[in-house]
Amino acid sequence: MSAMRISLEKAAELLLSDRVVAIPTETVYGLGALVSSPSAIKEIFRLKKRPVDNPLIVHIATMDQLKDLAKEISEESLLVAGHFWPGPLTIIFPADCKKVPEMARAGLPSVAIRMPNHPLTYQLIQITGPLVAPSANLSGRPSSTCREHVEEDFSLEFPVLDGGPCTQGVESTILHQREDHFEIARLGAITQEELSDFLGYSLPIKDQETPSFPPICPGQHYRHYAPQAKLILGKGPYLGEPKVVLGFQGRDYHLAEKVFLLGDLNQPKEILHNLYTILRKLDQEKVTSIWVDFDFSKQGPLRTLSERILRASSS
Ligand code: TXA
Ligand code: MG
Repeated sequence: MSAMRISLEKAAELLLSDRVVAIPTETVYGLGALVSSPSAIKEIFRLKKRPVDNPLIVHIATMDQLKDLAKEISEESLLVAGHFWPGPLTIIFPADCKKVPEMARAGLPSVAIRMPNHPLTYQLIQITGPLVAPSANLSGRPSSTCREHVEEDFSLEFPVLDGGPCTQGVESTILHQREDHFEIARLGAITQEELSDFLGYSLPIKDQETPSFPPICPGQHYRHYAPQAKLILGKGPYLGEPKVVLGFQGRDYHLAEKVFLLGDLNQPKEILHNLYTILRKLDQEKVTSIWVDFDFSKQGPLRTLSERILRASSS
């Protein structure tokens, strides 16, 4: 056990005195700070080495907190929130710019908000009020899905509210409303199919698949989720180079010297759950170049997998 696993009470106390604390959510760990603390928000950007044009998501525990932070809340967004919250869905709203500091918004007039589904963080936000939290990784690295990942990036002394391994293991899906329909600004734990089923129309996936300028999510400019290793996307059979393979259970990679398995393609949610732990393992084992089995159907959670792999492999 590390010295800086902290209790819920201690986490609340630190946050309320303008400090940054790593917090668990069902998607990935976040670096939390009070939305009302410009100094702690500044510290988040410094700690992560995050570009200042990349805004933060605000995490809430009640619908009253939403009403306090958003200037307008459309009927459609209330419906979606009502269905998917608490859960891994973020919605972009026009911000009440007096309540959400400019730095958290990266100067935008909007604010991204979600209600996470994690009992500890739910209790925490009940005490502290809304918390901004980007994923708890150094900018560009794979996100943290357990306390050990946070410690790897921010040291053993960093205060972490340990909520166990994240159940989803991949970030929230981000929605943006354009007139009367929603667009997916970042694919994540909620699939396009789930959203389309609920809303009754097919949601376009922006930025990643249909680039828009400027992108809806400023964070989508950057290389992301990336290990040190160069990822070589393999579309045909594996022919033995590079010698290390990232692939799936039940497939033949007998020419490889070493194989990292993401899981079984029939259990796609499990694959997303394992993804960042395995990408981080590549660094721990000092892999410099790896062949990635990219031959899978890009639907449901596997579409999110494909997007993360593409982004991790782009330079
Ligand atoms: O699951 C998650 O969403 C995790 C956990 C901790 O909640 N958080 C997370 O935060 O992934 P981060 O900072 O790694 O990614 C936030 C993304 C960035 O791409 C950022 O550009 C976008 O959200 N974003 C934040 N505010 C925005 C806004 N007002 N308009 C458009 N995009 C925004
Ligand atoms: Mg992130």
